[in-house]
Amino acid sequence: GAIGAAGLGLAVGTGSGAARKTGEASAWTREHANNIELTDDLTAPVINENSDVISDDYWIWDTWPLRYRDGSIAKINGWQVVFSLTAPKNLVPGARHNEATIRYFYSRNGHDWQEGGTALDDPLGHHQWAGSAMYDRSEDQIYHFYTPTSAEPEFRQRLALAKGATLETGPHGVELVGEQEHILIGKADGELYQTLEQSRDQGIVYAFRDPWYFQHPETGEDMVVFEGNTPTEGENPDDPQSYNGNVGVARATNDELTEWELLPPNLEAIEVNQQLERPHYVFQNGKWYLFVLSHEFTFAPGLWGPDALYGFVSDSLYGDYEPLNGSGLVIANPEEASFQGYSWLAMPQGNDVLVESFENFRGLDDTSRGEIGLDEVGYLPPEEQKELFGGTLAPSLKLQLNGTETRVVNELNDGHFLPSGGSNGRGQ
Ligand code: FRU
Repeated sequence: GAIGAAGLGLAVGTGSGAARKTGEASAWTREHANNIELTDDLTAPVINENSDVISDDYWIWDTWPLRYRDGSIAKINGWQVVFSLTAPKNLVPGARHNEATIRYFYSRNGHDWQEGGTALDDPLGHHQWAGSAMYDRSEDQIYHFYTPTSAEPEFRQRLALAKGATLETGPHGVELVGEQEHILIGKADGELYQTLEQSRDQGIVYAFRDPWYFQHPETGEDMVVFEGNTPTEGENPDDPQSYNGNVGVARATNDELTEWELLPPNLEAIEVNQQLERPHYVFQNGKWYLFVLSHEFTFAPGLWGPDALYGFVSDSLYGDYEPLNGSGLVIANPEEASFQGYSWLAMPQGNDVLVESFENFRGLDDTSRGEIGLDEVGYLPPEEQKELFGGTLAPSLKLQLNGTETRVVNELNDGHFLPSGGSNGRGQ
């Protein structure tokens, strides 16, 4: 059944107000978001109780595969590698973010993942949040983009790159070797991208994170998209202007990828949503499919949308991004398990798309909507949180793309598959 917009009927602007700082970005508007509706085509199946645990020792959540420069999944001597945010299982799930460490896992079949070790030696920041990893074959080195984070101002969400590591493969596994150099490649400038200080009064969360590497399909330039906020005049969490999520863009200005420039955001959700998390692209049929994640609790006052994967399609980097399915909604958690999954990552697989994600708080259902939202989970007693939290990879989903329409066509019940390596994306 459809939930539709919450129908609070609050009359607010359309997001084209004076506080907009750039003319270049497309807008995800309140009008689009008002079309959000949970239909079968746009809803993930409920996850079975008995899905596998990838690690006995660590909670894992946001995950990204090692990819070649052209975006296809790397397969190195038969091995695929993924990187995940991890934290020890003795931690309360709600507290894991501030202890996040990136670890790697490897597999021959995209299903039975074995635990490697930590992915970054001596990384920047107190803890590290999401990123992306690119393997350059001719240089035999990994470019690992990540988000150094800490409570101290200096590293409060920056964009960083670790260069220098590579993989040694053998019959039984994979080892990450080599010395890494860590380079800061971006910080919020206060004009295109709101700083933490500028966001203080607005109130719920702040973002300058999640760099996702891609090679511009036409120009070959090395770029990242990331999650940011546009500076706005919002003064408190009740003010729709305080909801100012954007998709940020940055471009490397040297071949070593050690120097970068910030470009204007290419998508903004002003008065719509505070967080456009982990932005990433799928290039299909000459189109730029831009996917982001967002939470129910970061929609602006008067709007409703589920914890979901959202998507937009355009002809170019700064083209006119049209929300998929009329609203932007692509894969929602089901009503009866409205926080079961998160951090969906869409990857091309032939003409389709394969979507990986993790198991979040599974036990919370729609009856708790309004009573316990995801933002309140952190206040539940520790044992209750551990009971509800999956902390492992969720079954992958298959998605059909058809122009501006998408459809969930399959759940890969027993697997956490990635597209099979090497032959995907735009080829080598
Ligand atoms: C998405 C996310 C990312 C961030 C990480 C922090 O689930 O919020 O944006 O990098 O989780 O744990």
